[in-house]
Amino acid sequence: MSAAASGAVALDGRRVLLIVSGGIAAYKSLELIRLLTGAGTGVRCVLTDAGGQFVTPLSLQALSGEPVHTTLWSLTDESEMGHIALSRSADLVVVCPASADILARMAHGLASDLATTLLLATDTPVLVAPAMNVRMWQHPATQANLATLRARGITVVGPDDGVMACNEFGPGRLAEPPVILAAIAALLAREPVPQDLAGRHALVTAGPTHEPIDPVRYLANRSSGRQGYAIAGALAARGARVTLVSGPVNLDPSPGTTRIAVETAQEMLAACEAAMPADIAVLTAAVADWRVDVPAASKLKKQPGRSPAPLALTLNPDILATLSRPGPSRPKLVVGFAAETDDLLSNAVAKRAAKGCDWIVANDVGQPLDGSPGIMGGTHNEVQLITAAGAEAWPHLDKHEVAARLAARIAAFITGDRSETHA
Ligand code: CTP
Repeated sequence: MSAAASGAVALDGRRVLLIVSGGIAAYKSLELIRLLTGAGTGVRCVLTDAGGQFVTPLSLQALSGEPVHTTLWSLTDESEMGHIALSRSADLVVVCPASADILARMAHGLASDLATTLLLATDTPVLVAPAMNVRMWQHPATQANLATLRARGITVVGPDDGVMACNEFGPGRLAEPPVILAAIAALLAREPVPQDLAGRHALVTAGPTHEPIDPVRYLANRSSGRQGYAIAGALAARGARVTLVSGPVNLDPSPGTTRIAVETAQEMLAACEAAMPADIAVLTAAVADWRVDVPAASKLKKQPGRSPAPLALTLNPDILATLSRPGPSRPKLVVGFAAETDDLLSNAVAKRAAKGCDWIVANDVGQPLDGSPGIMGGTHNEVQLITAAGAEAWPHLDKHEVAARLAARIAAFITGDRSETHA
């Protein structure tokens, strides 16, 4: 595997807590967020008071798609997720840019604001990307602080030499965002995927259903099953026991998943109900909405000179709505998909309400994203995650990256990261 490919694998579906401290280089943290989210990494930002003099919470939120945390004293944040949970909700904490001031406070164990409190409370690996005036960088106090932080296992990236904003030349410029990204990928590659879904049971449906017309013909759709298989694999990779109820597709199940092969919507519903109880249900299958009322027992033959008999159709059961019904066996989290060709957002929001599921992953199947022949069945996806809190647009990603990201969000929800509980 190439270095770039292994970096992409390490970043995919991981979570970074990004602390933006004060300094003119803070604007480069925006580029870092873009690179991270593009690689499938979830980014949650903490902005210090000094950082807020250079970039706004709105910019960080717009690029990360997550709420931005700025204060230790927010009642809302404390009720939804305490600072301890925030510091542990990530696979890696990144301080970019790291000012001389925040490095000093880290070295001395101060907890004078949200950022430093998180840094003191976390047992997650930390990477810092310093940026400051050359004299501040060279000052023995800063160098002593750096030595202390390095000795504690903190990774330091940069700074680079160059002309500074203050017109001096020397070390102190923030390392370029792609260099910081590579250092993050290298650190995450050493961190195994967290087994935070160990002991949980996840049900995933995937693929199309085939509804027989006669013994040789059926009604179906273009679903490839790729997204559902990738999600089943991503949940299994985090330690979940996964039951994959699959319509007819040409895919091998990932290790750690138990596949139950079905053909029709009615068989899919029966297999899902038999798989209960489950903690998580992710229903990606493109279930045929209708089936032929009474499939012919033998092959329908052409009648020369006569038009074919019309097909009488019956509505299929709605598996997502059935599993979402309140009751003791309802999974804690039910996630549906919405494949739409028009009015993506309004249709998906309405679908979430109509079906009673917690989240909807909405995708536009009106446009082929990767030159695939049909409107479904490609290798990439551009989705929006719809929860009670609103819609979150994800970038154009490989279906495996969508799966890893979704699995990370599901794990955060299931393990009680309260900020994810806007179900
Ligand atoms: N779904 C289901 N059972 C059905 C139909 C759909 O479980 N009989 C689930 C799909 O797996 C998906 C979600 O419902 O998670 C939405 O599927 P979609 O095909 O987008 O919507 P429909 O309910 O079929 O509505 P419409 O065709 O009107 O858009």
